[in-house]
Amino acid sequence: MRSRLQAADAAIGRIEAAKWLDQPGYGIGNALARLTQMVGRPSERLRNALHGTWYGHPIHPILVTVPIGTWTLAFGLDVLAELGVVRDQAAAQAANTALKAGAVGAVMAAAAGIADWQYTAGRDRRVGMVHAMVNSTSLALNVASIVLRGRGRRSQGRLVSATGWVCMAAGGYLGGHLVYRRRIGVDQADRSPEPRDFKPVLALDELEDNKPRRVEVWDADVRQSIGVALVKRGDRVHAMGARCSHAGGPLDQGWILEGTLVCPWHGSRFDLGTGHAVSGPSTCPQPRYQTRVRDGVIEIRREQEPGDEIVTDETVARVVRHTVAEGGVPHAKKADEVLFEHHQFMRRLFERVEATPRGDPQRRDLMRVLASELEIHEHIEDKLFYPAVRSISEDVEVAHAEHRQLADLLAATLKLDASSPEFEEHVRALHAGLNHHAGSEEQSMFVEVQRLGEARLRELGHELETMLEQQRTSAFQRAFRALKISLLEAV
Ligand code: FES
Ligand SMILES: [Fe+2]
Ligand SMILES: [Fe+2]
Repeated sequence: MRSRLQAADAAIGRIEAAKWLDQPGYGIGNALARLTQMVGRPSERLRNALHGTWYGHPIHPILVTVPIGTWTLAFGLDVLAELGVVRDQAAAQAANTALKAGAVGAVMAAAAGIADWQYTAGRDRRVGMVHAMVNSTSLALNVASIVLRGRGRRSQGRLVSATGWVCMAAGGYLGGHLVYRRRIGVDQADRSPEPRDFKPVLALDELEDNKPRRVEVWDADVRQSIGVALVKRGDRVHAMGARCSHAGGPLDQGWILEGTLVCPWHGSRFDLGTGHAVSGPSTCPQPRYQTRVRDGVIEIRREQEPGDEIVTDETVARVVRHTVAEGGVPHAKKADEVLFEHHQFMRRLFERVEATPRGDPQRRDLMRVLASELEIHEHIEDKLFYPAVRSISEDVEVAHAEHRQLADLLAATLKLDASSPEFEEHVRALHAGLNHHAGSEEQSMFVEVQRLGEARLRELGHELETMLEQQRTSAFQRAFRALKISLLEAV
């Protein structure tokens, strides 16, 4: 497996390093540019349609599904017909139709691909060229197959289109490399949620009319500065992310044209009012910021996007107002205290498993206790704690992901022979995983939840302890967990 991957990487590496492709590549790119420049506006409209700027997503990956689907169908039908599984005549007709539909889709996908390819450079441009050549070969083979089939040479036609199908798969691999490894076509803008509340960034009189200027805001989570481009037009100040969503170009070094901010790299134009791309190659809106002027200073706040779950001072105030009114349970432990104690209990259990000698059968029993406690802990957090704190802590999503990972690792550990070195290694990994997860809860989430107030935390703590107790003592829950653990051990 590893060596196959290495071979594929080496092959792509050779393409990426093939500098001789540059001259013809730029030749083709320049010829296309001349053509579109001569046609003018209509060609810009066509180009935007091919990029997917109007649609809001790249079009090329949508169009390629047509040849991939139809040619794969044809390939499958040919194989079944050759094996005698389906009726030869009906299968041949369906395969023929599929090949033709695929050829139409392939031409459209190629047009969209060329439009996008023109705005790539260096190694990506080279891989894009080979991707196009391989896919063009596939198209030519499929067209040849349609012709052969039309002349009654069905077997030859099937062989030729099968070769075309293999070419298409190779071309698809290169396309996948461009998107998933090289990130061509994916949003390159900085989508930091900062600043969540209005922050002063620049004195108004330092911003010239129609001249973009970069300011920076600090995102403590990713420990990096986020660039924002400010533009003053008349009495309005606009702000959008300074890193272009197409390929990361510096929009603050761009210029204003017809109410849009133009990217200096490939000329994407973004509406100053909405941040939407009105002309490509970008297909994706820029991050937007609200602006206001206070005492002659420009202040900006990141505009939330649909689906964002950002904790701001306002959301905290809303949640706290709501929850304090619910009262509390005066003598109960606070939620974070209950969970911290349980973390400590599991840490001690890990130490006991690790200290038990390899051959000792107690190791397996201790592991079962640990598995059961881990399961209970995740259960009470998932059911009670996380839902209660998700509106004031952004850590919940990652916490859910870490729970899943711990559960997967636990399942893998339970399957191993408790006296084996692999078991020991897995327990060590699980212990490290728990330490990381519990540690980040203690250092971050448990600190943030203090904003809920003592009364609410004690109430929540009481609910957690009740559920913990019920999970431990209920005969049904215990039997259910034991069954789950033994199934994990057995399968
Ligand atoms: S980086 Fe390509 S248009 Fe901005
Ligand atoms: Fe957790
Ligand atoms: Fe926890």
